[in-house]
Amino acid sequence: MKKQRITVITGANSGIGKAAAHRFASEGHTVVMACRNMERSKPVLEEIISKTGNEKTTLMQLDISSFQSIRNFCHDFKSRFDRLDILIHNAAYFNHGEKYRLSLDHLELTFATNVFGPLLMTELLLPHLKKSEDPRILNASSNIIKHFFDPKRVIEMDNLKGENIKDKSFSVYKMYCSSKMALVMLTFTLAEEFQQHGIRVNGLQINGAKMSKNTLQKVTPGWRTIAFVQNLYFPPPEKIGNLYHELCTAEEFSDATGKLFNDKKEIMKPGIPDPGLSAQVRQLFSGAFYPLYADNRENREKLWKFSKEVIKNN
Ligand SMILES: NC(=O)c1ccc[n+]([C@@H]2O[C@H](COP(=O)([O-])OP(=O)(O)OC[C@H]3O[C@@H](n4cnc5c(N)ncnc54)[C@H](OP(=O)(O)O)[C@@H]3O)[C@@H](O)[C@H]2O)c1
Repeated sequence: MKKQRITVITGANSGIGKAAAHRFASEGHTVVMACRNMERSKPVLEEIISKTGNEKTTLMQLDISSFQSIRNFCHDFKSRFDRLDILIHNAAYFNHGEKYRLSLDHLELTFATNVFGPLLMTELLLPHLKKSEDPRILNASSNIIKHFFDPKRVIEMDNLKGENIKDKSFSVYKMYCSSKMALVMLTFTLAEEFQQHGIRVNGLQINGAKMSKNTLQKVTPGWRTIAFVQNLYFPPPEKIGNLYHELCTAEEFSDATGKLFNDKKEIMKPGIPDPGLSAQVRQLFSGAFYPLYADNRENREKLWKFSKEVIKNN
């Protein structure tokens, strides 16, 4: 008999998250759509229930950029469910072209949403994940991390608490790239930390999926044009939603932890150090490699310590 899993998907009202919620619901799992805007999300919940007939699909309020909202969500979740089997960190802030914005906790909004929020939520849900027979966490990353093949590229941790809020050259695109790299690095560290509990933690490098009109509206007009053109070539979000489902439920991936998958379900390898020109080009375009920056122990420890302090002090 197929295992019935309790699944939390953040940002499940739109795009890939919605497609994933639909897929999990159609397989009969309990799906908690963790979404920030209940008004926008309720019709999506109703659509999923009516199309799948799965009444175990539910909606709970979560603003992943706010520590208080995360605490409220986790408290409510724990009072309603006795365990958690699958946690998918799908929600993200990528409003390219926007100026520097701070979250309610006075943290740069991209990192608050894509990195610190998911870390706090994971830690608060840990006791419930430990109660699962087959606990899995999946973090949605992006091929944008390829910028870190540039050896000069680093995650700037001295600009995440409003330090350079007036800097006119601030770029959400660059911050988004750093946040998705940080998420991959935390994936590797969390996998090590949670090994003792049998909790598998993996990342998925997404190359692209068609974006909704609402998502296109979030970026400034120049970025919207780029995204519009990309959308012509991107696969439908269902392709990635189905991948989430496979990576989190298939027996074939049950031993995988601390891995970054590409969208062909292959485990990616760390890049080759000091590659020649042809190897460099292969690394960039093959989809088989991720930048070595993610594997560097010193980089990872620095980020881990910084992120843990941020969530502890808020
Ligand atoms: N589409 C692509 O080409 C692509 C490529 C690489 C990686 N990805 C990754 O794939 C994931 C899904 O993206 P998508 O393309 O499906 O975009 P999307 O349709 O815009 O979905 C993003 C979701 O995140 C939610 N969200 C944003 N901030 C939130 C917050 N503070 N609290 C709770 N939810 C929040 C949004 O909710 P609202 O509706 O309330 O804004 C939305 O439901 C993201 O992690 C993204 O980085 C996508």
